[in-house]
Amino acid sequence: MKDIFEKLHERMGPLGMHADDAHGYYTFPKLEGPIGPKMNFRGKERLNWSLNNYLGLANHPEVMKADAEAAQKFGMAYPMGARMMSGNSDYHEQLEKELAAFVGKPESILLNFGYQGVLSAIDALVDRHDVIVYDAESHACIIDGVRLHMGKRFVYAHNNIESLEQQLKRAQKLVEQTGGGILVITEGVFGMSGSQGKLAEIASLKSKYNFRLFVDDAHGFGTMGKTGAGTAEEQNCTEGVDIYFSTFAKSMAGIGAFIASEPHVIKFLRYNLRSQIYAKALPMPLVIGSLKRLELIRTRPELKERLWTIVHALQNGLREAGFNIGITTTPVTPVLLNGTIPEATHLTHDLRENYNIFCSIVVYPVVPKGVIMLRLIPTAVHSLEDVEYTINAFKSIKSKLDSGEYRQEKLAAFN
Ligand SMILES: Cc1ncc(COP(=O)(O)O)c(C=O)c1O
Repeated sequence: MKDIFEKLHERMGPLGMHADDAHGYYTFPKLEGPIGPKMNFRGKERLNWSLNNYLGLANHPEVMKADAEAAQKFGMAYPMGARMMSGNSDYHEQLEKELAAFVGKPESILLNFGYQGVLSAIDALVDRHDVIVYDAESHACIIDGVRLHMGKRFVYAHNNIESLEQQLKRAQKLVEQTGGGILVITEGVFGMSGSQGKLAEIASLKSKYNFRLFVDDAHGFGTMGKTGAGTAEEQNCTEGVDIYFSTFAKSMAGIGAFIASEPHVIKFLRYNLRSQIYAKALPMPLVIGSLKRLELIRTRPELKERLWTIVHALQNGLREAGFNIGITTTPVTPVLLNGTIPEATHLTHDLRENYNIFCSIVVYPVVPKGVIMLRLIPTAVHSLEDVEYTINAFKSIKSKLDSGEYRQEKLAAFN
């Protein structure tokens, strides 16, 4: 017999296996000081491209004031208990109404966390007779929700409508026998590549197949569409999205999330969403702070315009400098380079220590072997000087990478 703790040493997992070398520098870094494009990392100011603070709301003065006043008035505990039992309030309901109206749906339900909410919603919506058809590059919260499903699940190749149709045909055959239905799940904006889910094309398949469409629009809410209402607005297919989800963790720069849909779907979720029924309600400062953030998203279009000015400058500048930024059509900006994992480590260390640029780095298995992806998240509070400085720094590190300089260096000292 084995002590289950024993095996934890041997099986740290795909991320944990690098923990000893990476902890505190590449993983679990501490970014200090006010949230923004310039933050301190290991005692030195760095230009920061790694936060999803798209609209710069994280420490917008009006947001900070609303958060602080709500905390002063209500504390962090109120309301106590789950919404269903003792934790409901007018503010929670008002936020639900305003979110629904903003994304063009009749009703919405608040979730304490996006990850748990998506997982739990998938679990609630389908039973063993139903079939889930989902995009292969879906976020972990979708994958983990699908894992809970007792019935069949069919995955389609990322953003590939032909593959989706094949899976829909299989699903249709199956549900004809089981008497169930089909739920298609995808994302509005894929957070790694920055490509958009083909929501309009998927929704148009409803003329051929009978299914409901669930969209996780974590990166699209606030950044995409004419009013910032998200990727369905951008693609003019709000009606075709049956269940619209977004988190407050990105454009809203807060904590929490919501699902918007038809009244009977929301009513069903209120009474069946285990992540909410068995969890304490969102505390008041997060709810009142979210009302303020939503008000700013609605009433200050200049925030989104400013974001897109920075996005265009960064993406055009990188393309003109010869960088491969993939197929992004959203603010998410991947820079794809070729190199090994040790080269990626040296390059990132050089970028952080000698160019004072902090951005996320993604390597195999998230991207194919031999690819190094630097992921930049432009925001409304970056400047055009930040963009210019970064493109020049990237030119410099790319020429070092191409000339093999990162191959020769010794592993950087982490502490
Ligand atoms: C696509 C996507 N879905 C869901 C989530 C989870 O949201 P939360 O941070 O609110 O749990 C994230 C990350 O925040 C995300 O990127």
